[in-house]
Amino acid sequence: MKVVIGCDHAGLAMKDALIDRVLTDYEIIDLGTDSPTPVDYPDIARKVADAVVTGRAEQGILICGTGIGMAMAAGKVSGIRAATCTDPYSAELSRSHNNANILCLGARIVGLGLAEKIVATWLSTPFARGRHTRRIEKIEQ
Ligand code: RB5
Repeated sequence: MKVVIGCDHAGLAMKDALIDRVLTDYEIIDLGTDSPTPVDYPDIARKVADAVVTGRAEQGILICGTGIGMAMAAGKVSGIRAATCTDPYSAELSRSHNNANILCLGARIVGLGLAEKIVATWLSTPFARGRHTRRIEKIEQ
């Protein structure tokens, strides 16, 4: 599976650690940032969201300080369902019920160990379909 990942300066250390520690079995498209110089999270969110909606990657991960700004920005792109998750249960349900296609993490909120569990759960949980398909379609409408 191809996973596209991006972060702002607040999420840089977590992005690099997740790539090294939990994303080793995935084909990764890393859209930066790659330096601690401050960048605007909507610019990164747009790049990652575009990669997902165009099919360049199947799933996306965005990391900023809280995971909130990234979700707000990515969610403006038609077809994106971005979920900010702070625990593995939310990560699981964001996939199985909401068919989230971008996971947003807050590097100032969750520690790396918890983030690893969230990412592993999120990437391994399929969409449950059934009644949830109708509800996802209503979001698109
Ligand atoms: C950057 O300071 C911070 O605002 C950003 O990483 C993010 O938390 C926004 O939602």
